[in-house]
Amino acid sequence: MIDVNKIRADFPILNRKVYGKPLVYLDNAATSLTPQPVVDAITRMYNCHKANVHRGVHALSQEATDRMEGARDKVRDYIGAKSTAEVIFTRGTTEAINLVASSFGEQLANGDEIILTVMEHHSNIVPWQLLQRHTRVKLNVVPVDARGELDLDAYDDCFTDNTRLVAVCHASNVLGTVNPIKRLVEIAHSHGVPILIDGAQAMPHRRVNVAELDCDFYAFSSHKMYGPNGVGVLYGKREWLEQMPPYQGGGEMIGTVSFERTTYAELPFKFEAGTPDFVDIAAFGTALDYINAIGIDAIAHYEQQLLDYATERLRGEVPGVRVFGEASHKCPVLSFLVRDINSYDMGVLLDRQGIAVRTGHHCAEPLMRHLRVTGTVRASFAFYNTRDDVDRFVAAVARAASMF
Ligand code: ALA
Repeated sequence: MIDVNKIRADFPILNRKVYGKPLVYLDNAATSLTPQPVVDAITRMYNCHKANVHRGVHALSQEATDRMEGARDKVRDYIGAKSTAEVIFTRGTTEAINLVASSFGEQLANGDEIILTVMEHHSNIVPWQLLQRHTRVKLNVVPVDARGELDLDAYDDCFTDNTRLVAVCHASNVLGTVNPIKRLVEIAHSHGVPILIDGAQAMPHRRVNVAELDCDFYAFSSHKMYGPNGVGVLYGKREWLEQMPPYQGGGEMIGTVSFERTTYAELPFKFEAGTPDFVDIAAFGTALDYINAIGIDAIAHYEQQLLDYATERLRGEVPGVRVFGEASHKCPVLSFLVRDINSYDMGVLLDRQGIAVRTGHHCAEPLMRHLRVTGTVRASFAFYNTRDDVDRFVAAVARAASMF
């Protein structure tokens, strides 16, 4: 059971007013809010343990290292990875995918193929296109049906003898669709192909166990999980990470350096060049503690109820509303348009009523083209949202719509 009033007390920003109206924050898929214990953890790192990690002999450096590596172990535990060697810290999901595109991609040859889906975020499209500057890889794109679900037969048909990787989102940031990842992994592996999962939208909302999924790579971001900005994770199976070349060069990622020859550090450090964001990484560990204290299954259940309630009320009370994404499994994302009202115009009118939503193409232009729209309005929920938030949101949409 979620004690939402107790939880809300941990998020001071929820007491804010916007244009004199109490804030209703429904832009969680863009970034989540940050609870006080995580803010305190950041402050504590700066006030008590600020020293560079992995380098110093002195006490502060050791404390900072312990906190950063402690967070790595919390991530390992949270996602069910075998070893901390398989947990690489990045700046976010985007950098994690770029790492794979660059490093795994370096081993690809002209004519090799990568499978993506129509519902990918630009961060799981453009890195593969950048790879095409050097290597003529072909991108095969899996379509979605009218409900916003992947066509699994078409997915299976995308595999050829040249397929080298699948890169697919766990959940769509626009449609909310939660893809059947275990099945997608099984199909990829039946063709002998590894699979990367963009977990940015799924990880905050449901239990993810990389060992059970058996995926080869899984990328996600702290800032969508109530943690600090600027931290992401790439989980990778050791056997892939071992054979992949470094992504960036610098301190931390080396064994020995000479002008003639450099050797690289062991995993995970081989992929972590330069001073990491150890302050925020440590505080991300606190965010995981926070989620664990509530329980991800309780969070998932509560958010599902909010999504169902919001979808039903919006459909029931706003004439001319069109909801995008009707998959049987959804994360708490509600994309919609009302009649022919431009998403930006709707967003501005909602903002004036204190309701924060995202509008536009949501960094998913190919999906927008598929849906034949230029953008949608997107309300996305978190466990600190309430039915009252939903009521105010629906009333605000109805009021805004009546103005056109
Ligand atoms: N990828 C984030 C979103 O969908 C920023 O809003």
